[in-house]
Amino acid sequence: MTTERARIAILISGRGSNMEAILAKRDAIDADFVGVISSREDAAGLQKADALGLVTRCVPSAAHPTREGYDAALLEVLRDLDADFLVLAGFMRILTDAFVERFAGRIINIHPSLLPAFPGLHAQRQALEAGVKVAGCTVHFVAPGAVDSGPIIAQAPVPVYADDDEASLSARIQVQEHRIYPAALQALVGGAMTLRGGRVVERSHADAIALVG
Ligand code: GRF
Repeated sequence: MTTERARIAILISGRGSNMEAILAKRDAIDADFVGVISSREDAAGLQKADALGLVTRCVPSAAHPTREGYDAALLEVLRDLDADFLVLAGFMRILTDAFVERFAGRIINIHPSLLPAFPGLHAQRQALEAGVKVAGCTVHFVAPGAVDSGPIIAQAPVPVYADDDEASLSARIQVQEHRIYPAALQALVGGAMTLRGGRVVERSHADAIALVG
């Protein structure tokens, strides 16, 4: 991606299992993890991050009623941490287009569907209601405009079974989330993948194959 080593902040709102999966692989990721920021004081992931030796901060949604106000407060914390690359991991907020443009090509997210199918909330429920036979997860860049619409970095499929409910399907998808998120992050910061003309391209077929389940 860039020649400079990325300074990553992980943004969470809840349990932080994707954050943990990424931090478990941190030695294999060519970047510095400068902090974990939560939008909720009670996010379980904050304690986990603290236990893993990460700097933790909270920018509570409750304290900032407007999106602009929230993003201004978030920006201040990011400046303080000197973060230049954001990894959203269950961060339950929509960032303003102005904020996203400021970090263009440097904000990524994981979503529990095979985008562009089922963007937004309750993706697993949407998949069950649609009766699809294959669900999955997607790591993508965050772009201005519609949610979950940015360039796709990596995807993994999982089967949907007749007796699945939201919990069982989510659990199966999460196994793949934990596998592809750290790998996609390293592929980006390590330069195996790059954003070109609004699409993410791999340096080689081997790099692409390594990310698919
Ligand atoms: C995951 O399902 C992810 O796809 C979605 O939010 C959930 C976060 O889970 N964006 P966790 O907090 O990482 O366990």
